Amino acid sequence: MNNLGIESSLHEQQLAEKIRTRAARVGVVGLGYVGLPLGVEFAKAGFAVTGIDIGERKVAQVNAGESYVLDVPSALLGPLVASGRIRATTDFAAVSELDTIDICVPTPLRKTKDPDMSYIDAACREIAHYIHPGMLVILESTTYPGTTDEFVLPMLEKSGLRVGRDFFLCFSPERVDPGNPKYQTANIPKVVGGITAACTHLGSLFYSQALEQVVPVSSTRVAEMVKLLENTFRMINIGLVNELAMMCDRMGINVWEIIDAAGTKPFGFMPFYPGPGLGGHCIPIDPFYLSWKTRQAGFEARFIELAGYINGQMPHFVVDKVQNALNDHNRPLRGSHVHILGVAYKKDIDDLRESPALDVMHLLLRRRARVTYSDPYIPRVSVDGLELAAEPPEKMIPLADCVVIVTDHAGFDYAALVEQARLIVDTRNALKGCVSEKIVRL
Ligand SMILES: NC(=O)c1ccc[n+]([C@@H]2O[C@H](COP(=O)([O-])OP(=O)(O)OC[C@H]3O[C@@H](n4cnc5c(N)ncnc54)[C@H](O)[C@@H]3O)[C@@H](O)[C@H]2O)c1
Repeated sequence: MNNLGIESSLHEQQLAEKIRTRAARVGVVGLGYVGLPLGVEFAKAGFAVTGIDIGERKVAQVNAGESYVLDVPSALLGPLVASGRIRATTDFAAVSELDTIDICVPTPLRKTKDPDMSYIDAACREIAHYIHPGMLVILESTTYPGTTDEFVLPMLEKSGLRVGRDFFLCFSPERVDPGNPKYQTANIPKVVGGITAACTHLGSLFYSQALEQVVPVSSTRVAEMVKLLENTFRMINIGLVNELAMMCDRMGINVWEIIDAAGTKPFGFMPFYPGPGLGGHCIPIDPFYLSWKTRQAGFEARFIELAGYINGQMPHFVVDKVQNALNDHNRPLRGSHVHILGVAYKKDIDDLRESPALDVMHLLLRRRARVTYSDPYIPRVSVDGLELAAEPPEKMIPLADCVVIVTDHAGFDYAALVEQARLIVDTRNALKGCVSEKIVRL
């Protein structure tokens, strides 16, 4: 019997024992922002971890003990590699030796805003080739409800093995927030739902060895939907405050002051902040996995489409602000030098994916502005085929006709900025409390 009072199979009992004694050999497929920190947590907990990635460079870096993920210091990874707790390979044959696998591969959108399942497809094909009795497979990549049971399960069952008896399959959404100093992989509660009760039991047992809190749910679809609710909630609330920012602009009211004052309400309100647009691998993308899926069921997810539209307007709104601010100083945008401060998609991280800075730069270039940028985390950016290298802010700020704060990294010297810049468009309220005619706020 397992702890749910259900007769357990021999494979379930054996795997549970291996997990409890930390003899289970743990695999992580996809060693990116999600997979590497996860693998490291299990290695720290005493498991032998094998990371599998198609990127030879990442594999070599991991095996050399060099981390490329900001939240995983090399000082932590190095000793784990040296002691044999963690290793990486590009060879999926390693799956034959593993007891558990977490799949952490990308789930981007196609240009048409349809889910791009090619990474999950490729990883599962390889896993199906080497799957063996007694394995636990967990999908962590964010995806639409139904992926695990409709898409992954049939691929794995082609092996002839049966889920819930011979192997075990779960979905567990990854909630990591890169750069968050308080909440990291180990202390973010882990939601997990299995195809069968035995799958959920093993998935929960597995995560509870290395993570502080596990939240079992009744199915893989519930677990998939939990992640989409969380990210859709953020996307829609950001859409709401972005719309509020545009309204306030028309009415000459400071939107930031409104949000701060509303945020003093101790219940029933949660502050969200406007900005230059959505960025990153989650908030601009995940809700469209949901709307794509519901459309197939004949249901239009209208909040998502609307918030997507409003958030997509923000880079245009920012560039209009820059143009108007320059006009007020009798300068046309065409030919002006606009310096972008911060291009990563959010503060204090090195991730450029889907960054609104790219849209802002593209729109500025289209209006024939001269564009430069500074970002301590992003050495190079390519926009419209133009290769730009990061410039020192202290060199560019006095030269630029307008500086646009797109990403408010903590390391920028904002006092020097206000002193030296001719004109500043602040899309993040980084200059909160600073009074100067040079500053134009969102
Ligand atoms: N980055 C985040 O903050 C975050 C947060 C929560 C959820 N997620 C989700 O987690 C998943 C992974 O995101 P990420 O940010 O770690 O992506 P990433 O691009 O940083 O890492 C993915 C890794 O998978 C590897 N890969 C791609 N195809 C592969 C294959 N067939 N076999 C083996 N490896 C393969 C890539 O080389 C890469 O190293 C996505 O679904 C994402 O939406 C990301």
